Amino acid sequence: MSIHVNEKTGLFHLQTAHTSYIFRVLENGELGQVYYGAQLPVKDQYANLTSMEEHDCTNTLTDEQTDFQLELIKQEYASLGKGDYRAPAYQITGQNGSRITEFAYAGYELVDGKQRLADQPSSFDDDHHDSQTLTVKLVDQLLKLELHLNYTVFEGEDVIVRSATFLNHGEPLFINRAMSAELDLPDADYDFLQFAGSWARERHLHRNHLRPGSQSIESVRAHSSHQENPFFILARPHADNNQGEAFGFNFIYSGNFKDEVEVDQFDTARVLVGINPLEFGWRLGNGQSFQTPEAVLTYTDQGLNALSQQLGDFYDHHLLNPHFVNQERPILINNWEATFMDFTEDKLMPIVKRAKELGIEMFVLDDGWFGHRDDDHSSLGDWFTDEKKFNQGIGGFANRVHELGLKFGLWFEPEMISIDSKLYQAHPDWLIATPGRKQTPARHQFVLDMSRPEVVDYLVEKISAVISETKLDYIKWDMNRSITEMYGATLPADRQLEFAHRYILGVYRLYDRLTKAFPKVLFESCASGGGRFDLGMMYYAPQAWASDDTDAIERIKIQEGTSYGYRPNMWGAHVSAVPNDQVARLTSIDTRAKVAYFGDFGYELDITKLSAEEQETIKHQVAFYKQYRPLFQFGTFYRLETPDTNENVHGWEVVAKDKRQAIGARFQILNGANPAYIRYYFTGLDPQLTYRVNDDQETYSGAELMKAGYFVPRVMDRTQPEKAPADFYAHLFVVKAVD
Ligand code: DGJ
Repeated sequence: MSIHVNEKTGLFHLQTAHTSYIFRVLENGELGQVYYGAQLPVKDQYANLTSMEEHDCTNTLTDEQTDFQLELIKQEYASLGKGDYRAPAYQITGQNGSRITEFAYAGYELVDGKQRLADQPSSFDDDHHDSQTLTVKLVDQLLKLELHLNYTVFEGEDVIVRSATFLNHGEPLFINRAMSAELDLPDADYDFLQFAGSWARERHLHRNHLRPGSQSIESVRAHSSHQENPFFILARPHADNNQGEAFGFNFIYSGNFKDEVEVDQFDTARVLVGINPLEFGWRLGNGQSFQTPEAVLTYTDQGLNALSQQLGDFYDHHLLNPHFVNQERPILINNWEATFMDFTEDKLMPIVKRAKELGIEMFVLDDGWFGHRDDDHSSLGDWFTDEKKFNQGIGGFANRVHELGLKFGLWFEPEMISIDSKLYQAHPDWLIATPGRKQTPARHQFVLDMSRPEVVDYLVEKISAVISETKLDYIKWDMNRSITEMYGATLPADRQLEFAHRYILGVYRLYDRLTKAFPKVLFESCASGGGRFDLGMMYYAPQAWASDDTDAIERIKIQEGTSYGYRPNMWGAHVSAVPNDQVARLTSIDTRAKVAYFGDFGYELDITKLSAEEQETIKHQVAFYKQYRPLFQFGTFYRLETPDTNENVHGWEVVAKDKRQAIGARFQILNGANPAYIRYYFTGLDPQLTYRVNDDQETYSGAELMKAGYFVPRVMDRTQPEKAPADFYAHLFVVKAVD
């Protein structure tokens, strides 16, 4: 049993395999956080963690109980206005305009397993075999409002999932903010690791020590954004990939979010994770309820690799579509960087045929196959074939691809509408716009009001018809702009702040209907690359296009940053042409592939234009990836933290569960002059096993490879610097146990 409730002392102790999360009923009837960290034994009380003493110059619970001072107390779901001046977890406006609530503990419910949420993505434990869910009920008698704090303990993965539900039995109310989780930590000696950037530069690691005041990451773009990913870590300053304490926080949500850490006057830290209160509000009528999306919390004292790995296990077991979790993802070729929108069936067929000859498994037709879309000014919403490009319809083209023995994938951007489209002519009111105001374009396109059921119905019908016509194997679901002038034409004025959340719930409804109707179609989410790389999307689409940047060197930073919060098989990674389209950099086809192997591998270039030698190289790369695909896609991933790794040298490794196989990569950005002998220190191997590296004759013990390192030959070929450049060089080491 992982949840222990002591009704006498009002203590709740949530235990995972290695962690304890403890809270209690406070003297004011609300809930107070007691402890979150490495596992503690279950006890009736923890006097050292719950003792209070009086401080000067602050509010007290009553005139008599002067040692109960909310400002000093760690809480589970705090409000503002009763003596705690930190950022609150929620705020409710009652009928009389007051924002004061007085919730009091009113019991709990404990069940095995975890139900999926009905209308949004969530964690789950369908078999009810390794999780427990606790719902703690609190009631505000004056408002007749119930608050449920929901906790699920995923024991094996060391993860706790939290959300909050408001149930109104009284007069209509207004929810000003409703965060999903609050965690009050007793000190603030943590580094804040965030994954920030921009389009084509997503999820670079930024690490800063917490400072007094509030620090936050957020989005108000109505998608989780390229700029700030909802995943973040609080790590002790000395913690690194191999050791040390860290908390990880993620959010099963794709819309506006806010993750905030407030360091207060006492140098304690309050963490809040939830829907961004800016551009949010919810009217809650009598008999209505509102449940927040779920926040994911994890802790380890074993370093950041362990943190990423336990999150990865949690996603595999309790978030991703079980149908795809253990399914090898196909090696694809996408025509985007090969042709952009300038293609016809005749132009594409040679690429398809050559792809088949090289062993590639799926052809993905990107943007430009529908309506009359020759550039980005038109046709979004018109999901029917452009017959100028495909005279036998898209179904005819799909047949030809399938007949060659390749799978077929297709691009859609379901949520968008072009003014130059049949859809706009028929339904101009479906476009999101604020009455009497200008509409701000982006990429010459606008956004459909996904909160309207008829819009979702239209998209289900049109997209389903194409899926059936093409016997589609895969969908790339793009989303190429942030939302402006947010306004719901069908919502009353006092519900307009609900719009951004209702929009994303509409997107989820569409995903839900399509993935249920076509359970074997693999969905890859995309938002101009990594603009919606989040757990809400991953629930429906188990992989996402990590970035529009396909340059191998930029991808090292992007994929490495992403790996802190997500597993490599959750992102697509492709070899593209050089000079690279985004940064005009030249890298070898060898380096490009070695970076892209760490992900769902594919190509995105016109392979018919490559030399015979390069095509032969691709054939070998494809064969190599097929041979080691289970290792790359399902192995345990490590970021190496060794004397050799730094800004210029990155080390990654994937290790099989039984530790009998591993592949290590060493990426060197610039070659150094006259360096010392270089060693590559493996990790995660079995110290007792004997291994061979790259099928050499020599054998090594696992201990030797990890502790003494493996000699890396220096790369320097003055005779052919173009063919074998020493800069941007990637070594790959395939390690196999010897019987
Ligand atoms: C943005 C995506 O990230 C690209 O890969 C491509 O699909 C284009 N959109 C197509 O418009």
